[in-house]
This record gives sequence, C-alpha cells and structure tokens, in this order.
Amino acid sequence: MQALAIIVAAGRGERMGTERPKAFLELAGEPLLLRAASAFDAAPSVTGIVAVVPRSELGPARALLAPLGKLRAVVAGGERRQDSVREGLTQVPHGFAGVVLVHDAARPLVDVSLIESVVAAAAEAGAALPVVPLVDTVKRVRAGRVVETLDRGELAAAQTPQGFRLDVLAAAYEQAYRDQLTVTDEAMAVERLGHVVAAVAGSPDNRKLTTPEDLAWAEGHLKGILRA
Ligand code: CTP
Ligand code: MG
Repeated sequence: MQALAIIVAAGRGERMGTERPKAFLELAGEPLLLRAASAFDAAPSVTGIVAVVPRSELGPARALLAPLGKLRAVVAGGERRQDSVREGLTQVPHGFAGVVLVHDAARPLVDVSLIESVVAAAAEAGAALPVVPLVDTVKRVRAGRVVETLDRGELAAAQTPQGFRLDVLAAAYEQAYRDQLTVTDEAMAVERLGHVVAAVAGSPDNRKLTTPEDLAWAEGHLKGILRA
C-alpha cells in the first residue's frame, strides 16, 4: 500500500539549547530534517513527503529538501506538535486511500525497513506504531516518593513513524480538538476512540535526539557504523 509521510520539524528544540531550530542542526554534516526525510524518500511504499517547519525556516527548508524526488510540500507548523501535524494533514489529498505516516525530524536515524513494517501493519490494522522495550525498572513517583513499581513487561516506549489510514487519523484528530485535548503522539488520539493500534518492533537506533548528549551519541553511533 502507498504511504504519504508528514515529517514534523517545527519545534524550537529548547532542550537542545541552540539558536537554530533542532531539525536544522547537522548530524555528521547533514541536517536532521534532511536525514529523516531521505529515509522516507528511499522507502518503496512512500509516494509523497510533506515537511512541517518553523515559519522562519520555510525558505531554507524548501532549498534543503528540493533534491528529494518525493517532496510534495513544505508548510509552516503550529504551537504544539499536534498543531504541526494538523498543518501537515491539510496537504494530504481528500480521500487518500493509503497510509499517512507521521514522523519526528528529531529521529534522523530511522531506516527503510522500519518505515515499511509500520506501513504494512497500519494498512492491515488501520493504525500502527513502533515500540521498544524499556530497559529500566519503572516507578510511579509522586512528590518525591515511590508510589508503585510498574510491570515492565507490559510497558514500551513509543517511537515514530506512526502510521494510520487517513480516515482513522482524521477522525481521531477531529475528536481530540473538539475535546481540547493535548496529545503527545497520534496514537494517543486514536486509542481514545477505542480503535486498535498495532505495535511493531521499533529500533534502538531510532532514538529521538533531545539534548546535546543525544546528538553526540548519534555522531558516535554513525562513526561506528561507518567504521564497521
Ligand atoms: N514539533 C513540531 N511542532 C511543534 C513542536 C514539535 O513539529 N510545535 C516536532 C519537532 O520539530 C520534533 C518532533 O515534533 O521533530 C518531536 O518534538 P521534540 O523532540 O519535543 O522537539 P522540540 O519540541 O523541537 O524540542 P523541545 O521540546 O526540546 O523544545
Ligand atoms: Mg517538544
């Protein structure tokens, strides 16, 4: 099934602490947004890419992504991540019958096989996301005290790309906005409608780069791959 990818890159990257928005920082000489978008450009099921960037970066982003054959549009994002996703959704053709993928530009090490497995699972279940198991024991902590230990076997960390049939995602977003809800990922909006969300195996490499330490990890990781 064909897929259209919305890559959200409109955040400020406050925790990264740099002047330039995070998605435009370079990892081994290539901006995070270009790295992430290139993986989708190379994925066989992906037929179109929509990038969502800060308004001030529209020009630079269009120039940066111009070489990608599947680029469809570059649009300005919104206040919250979900507002940026909504701006991206305006670029999906009405009645699009494939899978809509939403991916964080802050996860530049996503690869084609992960993209394809999300598309396949979303085509079948209507909604799918990659997850990775948690390595630490997880506690619920309130006011400096441990309240309980959660069953790690049932917990997983959610990644992107998250994939959905357009009707499923559009309905979920409509309802979330009607309920004035802030969601931290798309699946959260879909889950609350009672729709099944399939979980596929994510990748430890597909980490979200949040802090300067994360960026340093990714630099080292890429060097390790090149050396191998
Ligand atoms: N994002 C977006 N629009 C927003 C906020 C976030 O498109 N209004 C995007 C970011 O660009 C990023 C992804 O959502 O690719 C995940 O968000 P996060 O890692 O939190 O990035 P930032 O919000 O930029 O970082 P911070 O929270 O540290 O400011
Ligand atoms: Mg953020």
